[in-house]
Amino acid sequence: MSMRCVLLALLTAAAAQPEGPRLISANVGIIQVDCCFNDTVVDHGQVVFNLPSKCLQLVCNYGKIIPRFLGDPGRSCEFDGLLYAEGAELAGHCVVMQCTRKGWIPRGDIDDCCKHCSVYDDPHFVTFDGYRYDWHGYCNYSVAQTDRTYNPEAGVFSDFEPCFGGPSCLGRSTFKDHKHTVISLGHSVFNLLVNGDPYAVPLVGAEPVRCSSKVHPVLAWRNGQCTMLLGSSKL
Ligand SMILES: *[C@@H]1O[C@H](CO)[C@@H](O)[C@H](O)[C@H]1NC(C)=O
Ligand SMILES: *[C@@H]1O[C@H](CO)[C@@H](O)[C@H](O)[C@H]1NC(C)=O
Repeated sequence: MSMRCVLLALLTAAAAQPEGPRLISANVGIIQVDCCFNDTVVDHGQVVFNLPSKCLQLVCNYGKIIPRFLGDPGRSCEFDGLLYAEGAELAGHCVVMQCTRKGWIPRGDIDDCCKHCSVYDDPHFVTFDGYRYDWHGYCNYSVAQTDRTYNPEAGVFSDFEPCFGGPSCLGRSTFKDHKHTVISLGHSVFNLLVNGDPYAVPLVGAEPVRCSSKVHPVLAWRNGQCTMLLGSSKL
């Protein structure tokens, strides 16, 4: 990336009375209006990239390259910063999603080729390779994760809590799609917390999860009494 980005530094200094003790206050701010893109500097407002098949442009906006979606919003669906035309399928995930006039609609159930595991009730487990067992403990456990660290990039965690005076039951479960998108589900499965903010899963169709006006790269929908989440991590 080029180092020719233009930084505009503002320095304002205000001096108090010329006589007596002098009070100086300085305020330094940096305003970046141009963007660096593909090793060149582009002006604010300039389109740097076009992807007509997805009705998408990338535009320089006060120093940041942002996506701009074109076309009829009713005829396209958004996922992970890209726009898909009506009829297009979101492939490569465990459930095939199709873009319709009403937004994303899941096509079928979890794909047979997709490995899945489950934890349910007073926790019973079925592992990715089909092994069944029970485990009763009170802790926040990692159920699945994308790497072997203690703080994985993406994962599913579940807090087991006491119930029926004996063994443990599933409490709050957390889906970390990536570090900026952490979704948790409690006993009311359609009312999620997205980075701590409440979010209700739509009654029909699937939509990208939003909180505080930010759109996250996770689609959420209802399937019977369950909430389904499909994230960019593919977990
Ligand atoms: C980036 O710059 C190279 C060389 O100038 C050019 O061939 C390429 O098409 C540019 N890529 C984009 C996305 O603009
Ligand atoms: C369990 O651990 C995960 C991962 O560290 C965290 O995001 C989540 O908030 C924890 N759950 C509870 C109920 O504390």
